[in-house]
Amino acid sequence: MGGVKIIITTALIVLTLGYIFYLPVPADVDDPLKASIFQQQADWSIKLALLSWKIGFGDIINNTRSMLTFMVTFGITSSSNEEMEVRDETIAGVRVRIYRPVGVKRFAPALIYFHGGGWIALSPEVYDSSTYEMARMGKVVVISVDYRLAPENPYPAGFEDCVAVTAYILQHGHKNGIDTSKVGIGGDSAGGNLAAAVALKFTEDTMVAKNLPKLRFQVLIYPVVQMHDFQLPSSVSNDLAMRGVLRRWSAPLCLACYMGYDIVTSYSYLAPQMSDNRHVSDGIKAKYGHLVDHALLPEKYRNTSAKVSSSATFNATLFGMMASYMTDPYFSPITAPTGMLAKSPPAIIVSVEYDVIRDDAILYKHHLEKAGVRVKHYHLERGYHPMMILSPFSFLRHGSAVKTYEAMMSFVNEILAEEYN
Ligand SMILES: *[C@@H]1O[C@H](CO)[C@@H](O)[C@H](O)[C@H]1NC(C)=O
Ligand SMILES: *[C@@H]1O[C@H](CO)[C@@H](O)[C@H](O)[C@H]1NC(C)=O
Ligand SMILES: *[C@@H]1O[C@H](CO)[C@@H](O)[C@H](O)[C@H]1NC(C)=O
Repeated sequence: MGGVKIIITTALIVLTLGYIFYLPVPADVDDPLKASIFQQQADWSIKLALLSWKIGFGDIINNTRSMLTFMVTFGITSSSNEEMEVRDETIAGVRVRIYRPVGVKRFAPALIYFHGGGWIALSPEVYDSSTYEMARMGKVVVISVDYRLAPENPYPAGFEDCVAVTAYILQHGHKNGIDTSKVGIGGDSAGGNLAAAVALKFTEDTMVAKNLPKLRFQVLIYPVVQMHDFQLPSSVSNDLAMRGVLRRWSAPLCLACYMGYDIVTSYSYLAPQMSDNRHVSDGIKAKYGHLVDHALLPEKYRNTSAKVSSSATFNATLFGMMASYMTDPYFSPITAPTGMLAKSPPAIIVSVEYDVIRDDAILYKHHLEKAGVRVKHYHLERGYHPMMILSPFSFLRHGSAVKTYEAMMSFVNEILAEEYN
């Protein structure tokens, strides 16, 4: 009997551990247990969302949104307390969540923040702990924007919401206790794309003609900036790095949804072809290829042994569906003309090693610097996507993400302390 018990107990332990570690994380990732928990949360959210859809409850995308929200926040969000005033408001027709540290000046600096989630999921509530910390550490007002999500609201809906809130704050911010000469924008992942696009939008002469103050800074945390090459070294070598969160096809999938294609079409037909770069014509390569040239990346990334072996050929139909997005700087910021990049505000760029879109950030940094824009780059050598989303529970937060926010916000304050011109 005793022998049987030992065998059963051992089998149960092995099965449990096998189950917990069936989605491994990179060996040298920062805080592997927390990375692993994060990955399980994302993976389980998607599994449960699909399962409930299969048994006839809801739809894939709304189920995934609800599950992810629950898994990340456990329904916990902050409210006003002795160090922070937190309130929900509607600005320019868009719901925002505003964090105002107690004791800041009557007219305080502000960071307008666009959350990540592939343009299709997540919300200011999921980012509550992150935006709260940014406000607390930076002593700035943070305005977290609940922009419309795709695919129900295709591009440019979400982007226009971000532009509308930014324009309102630059024009009427004093009504919200904001110093309109000290406003910047920021975002991570898809939100980093929105922030880069908004930064470009506000360089337009039409905006200057409206006499709006200039944006002072842009915070880009692992942003998506291009759709011209989905076989950059980071895509290929990190395909399985955080497999429960992001795969090689994830950016193409979300970009297709952002264009307005439904999730099933995007997943089954568009993303697989885009991952093979079948949407990129020779004309696009000739015009934009230099922007995504692998030679611009550090030697250690270029030298990756992982390569995609593919006999995929150009698909003219697919190109027809995507051409206009590939040449639109508000969709693919990397295609912005140098003159436009040059006028965009100083940037703080955060990239993480274990991320399929890591190289987007590195390429964008290169082009901004080449255009003469001041860039501060933080690279987390053992970081992973999406570690910058802070849990409401401090024991689940990544120490290095918290440290990065501190450094980021002190750089924001450094820029704000400079003369406004
Ligand atoms: C998700 O839910 C919203 C609100 O109920 C609805 O308007 C939208 O169509 C749903 N999305 C999908 C993809 O069915
Ligand atoms: C590039 O990869 C090759 C083969 O793996 C290796 O021998 C070489 O040392 C690498 N070079 C650099 C600069 O990392
Ligand atoms: C090209 O892409 C379209 C859209 O997904 C698809 O319907 C078509 O079958 C593809 N053509 C080829 C030759 O793969």
